[in-house]
Amino acid sequence: MGSLATRFCGVDLAHPVLNGSGTLDALAAGTLGVSAFVTKTVTLNPRAGNPPQRIAETPQGMVNSIGLANPGLERFCDEHLPRLADLGVPLIVSGGGWSREEYAVAVRRIGAHPAVAALELNVSCPNVDTGCISIGTDPAETRALLERCRAETERPLLAKLSPSVADVSAVALAAAEGGAAGLVLINTVRGMAIDRDTLQPLLGGGGGGLSGPAVKPVALHAIFHCRAVTGLPIVGVGGVACAQDCLEFASAGANVVALGTALFRNPGLVEEVVAELPGLLERHGVSTLDDVVGRAHHHQGKALLEVDANHS
Ligand SMILES: Cc1cc2nc3c(=O)[nH]c(=O)nc-3n(C[C@H](O)[C@H](O)[C@H](O)COP(=O)(O)O)c2cc1C
Repeated sequence: MGSLATRFCGVDLAHPVLNGSGTLDALAAGTLGVSAFVTKTVTLNPRAGNPPQRIAETPQGMVNSIGLANPGLERFCDEHLPRLADLGVPLIVSGGGWSREEYAVAVRRIGAHPAVAALELNVSCPNVDTGCISIGTDPAETRALLERCRAETERPLLAKLSPSVADVSAVALAAAEGGAAGLVLINTVRGMAIDRDTLQPLLGGGGGGLSGPAVKPVALHAIFHCRAVTGLPIVGVGGVACAQDCLEFASAGANVVALGTALFRNPGLVEEVVAELPGLLERHGVSTLDDVVGRAHHHQGKALLEVDANHS
């Protein structure tokens, strides 16, 4: 049987299963077996987040309107980072902001910490009115943000993108041109829930972000196209719920995967998936997930974009 160990953007990982930003509080719950811990998005100033209710279950998933609640850069670096450094797995810190300069300040400060393996730039949160997603909907803004942040750190920068844009592959290409080392696909899909009794918006923030199995096809499509257009390494996230999903995400073009919503139902899922992967890979006649990466791009010898066009 092969090894699950892999290397992603220069970071050595014991296996290819991470957590999605904001879906695991490792200081409270431990790492649950992830090979690298991705933090909740940190912003320059502390944020209380959106008013309750912040989460609603939906068919095949949930919508959340957390609103980037976080302690702010100062407290994160002084109090959280030193404790996260002791978790024993590589750290990927997610940063967000309302301007290029805010991101740059966070990247400089966080990137200087020796325990940080990589930074994830969240340009895709649907739960804030401005900043973040408004940068990630505009390829030129995304390129400029990556260029600005690249100047602040030697650490690999990953761009976390939203599928709720006209053409996510155009944003991905801009991120690549700006110097992104890798992509994280996808953040939640814009969504909403209505209270069945009051018929009013259920979430305190009005709208929210849909996650869970319902978004898996959206994630696969985004990964497939962004991989084709950029060739960048990808963290695949969005509805992953079992080892089979990991293979499918890898085939679309993800090098590693992250579990998010699925962890709310089953905190033991990372360990279950990691235990199941070797046997599943063997059944597919390969020994590592790397052997599967990009397989869907060679569909019966046809060009990948031709394959997609046939289904639209
Ligand atoms: C409660 C919750 C909080 C989240 N917080 C963040 C966040 O702070 N930053 C971020 O980039 N993504 C955040 N996400 C998005 C997830 O990391 C992930 O991209 C998304 O949920 C899709 O994966 P899933 O379907 O496996 O949950 C959050 C998702 C949920 C459900």
